[in-house]
Amino acid sequence: MGAGRVGLVAAACLANSGHEVICVEKDPARLEKLIQAEVPFYEEGLGELVESALRQRRLSFTGVLPGRLSDVGIVLVAAGTPLLPAGGVDLSYVYDAVNEVVQHAPQPLTLVMKSTVPPGTGVAIQRDLLGKGSVKHSYISNPEFLREGRAIHDWYHPDRIVIGGQDAEAIQRVREIYEGINAPVLVMDVTSAEVAKYAANAFLATKVSFINEIANLCELVGADIDAVARAVGMDHRIGTHYLKAGLGYGGSCLPKDTNGFAFVSALNGYDLRLLKTVIEVNAAQRRRAVDKLSQALGGLTGKRVAVLGLAFKPGTDDIRESPGIEIARLLATAGASVSACDPMAWTSACGLLPPEVELVTEAFSALQGCHAALLATEWEEFINLDWQKVRSVMRAPYVILDGRNALPRDLLRQYGFNYHGVGR
Ligand code: UGA
Repeated sequence: MGAGRVGLVAAACLANSGHEVICVEKDPARLEKLIQAEVPFYEEGLGELVESALRQRRLSFTGVLPGRLSDVGIVLVAAGTPLLPAGGVDLSYVYDAVNEVVQHAPQPLTLVMKSTVPPGTGVAIQRDLLGKGSVKHSYISNPEFLREGRAIHDWYHPDRIVIGGQDAEAIQRVREIYEGINAPVLVMDVTSAEVAKYAANAFLATKVSFINEIANLCELVGADIDAVARAVGMDHRIGTHYLKAGLGYGGSCLPKDTNGFAFVSALNGYDLRLLKTVIEVNAAQRRRAVDKLSQALGGLTGKRVAVLGLAFKPGTDDIRESPGIEIARLLATAGASVSACDPMAWTSACGLLPPEVELVTEAFSALQGCHAALLATEWEEFINLDWQKVRSVMRAPYVILDGRNALPRDLLRQYGFNYHGVGR
């Protein structure tokens, strides 16, 4: 239930593994596209997988589940769980999905929660919804750990599969949908599975904010964060992943889940102080980039700045909580004239940027006449630009802020750019 970035990947991958999958999408425009085998967002390899599953008649799309529930054994709920304006998690889509099943399923089935829901949600659903009907359904929490852009790879090669539940038969059924996938299966209670999902994202966010703080210190003491992170990460107890300094984490998951986790923890009587600081550090990292540009340019008023990259990371068209978008907005507010571009997120960015930010399709046009450029997303297209040619279309003082430490620093300096990185 739900053909978003998690639901559609799950549907296509399960169908590809030989299961018969009915994918429910409530948005009529999205549903129409899916029926035509059109994926409404970019995810590498997903279009091909959907097309092949449709061709083999293992996958179908519908807007209404009730009529088709009678021969369903397992329902995966992959509804969105956005943040509420007040800070909590909006569970209305999840509850709508569960209610639809409870009201219409004529036979007992296994309800599998894939959506990221606050600790205690599964227990509440079992008590308040599943426990009240005449048909006895089983409930399993089965959080997802898929990265956008790598979701299909991650589905087939997970580090672990977490199954939270009590009903042995239901646990076995969920194990079976992952048959053929070589990964440890961790069986636990429902609430522990829910906490595990939030804690994993919170820890990844913590690593990113930690390395960004160390990077900021490196700038003050004259050290190089790349060398530092390498030395730190090679300790197996720490690990090399998520130690890339930059503009902070973005996307729909890390920002949403860290905020949601901190909020829900407080409701449960625990103040997650460390995580709250992680969130603050992340927000400050974006403002710091604006300050750095302002300092390098001697103020932002009347200066022209190009923002290269609007997707929250390369390999996706997702711009939710993207550092590039926020920094473009902050620069425009501070009086700079801003041009922005992205190889994939152009369409999604259109409605989100203020009208004073000029959105262009091509990096060279964005860089034309600019006093400074910010690399906000490390797309290969930007890293491999002809930087000598870029120098010839930009204006003094030729400032480059490499927000991802991904550009060839020495070469850029050689070409006469005023290069700044993050902690380098
Ligand atoms: C994240 C998790 O990695 C997935 O395991 C999880 O399933 C998913 O959220 C989710 O909850 O659905 P994703 O949102 O695709 O996946 O993003 P990541 O690849 O984790 O990157 C998040 C952000 O951190 C990006 O903006 C990236 O640029 C930034 N990042 C990452 C850094 O700044 N430095 C790093 O070293 C790593």
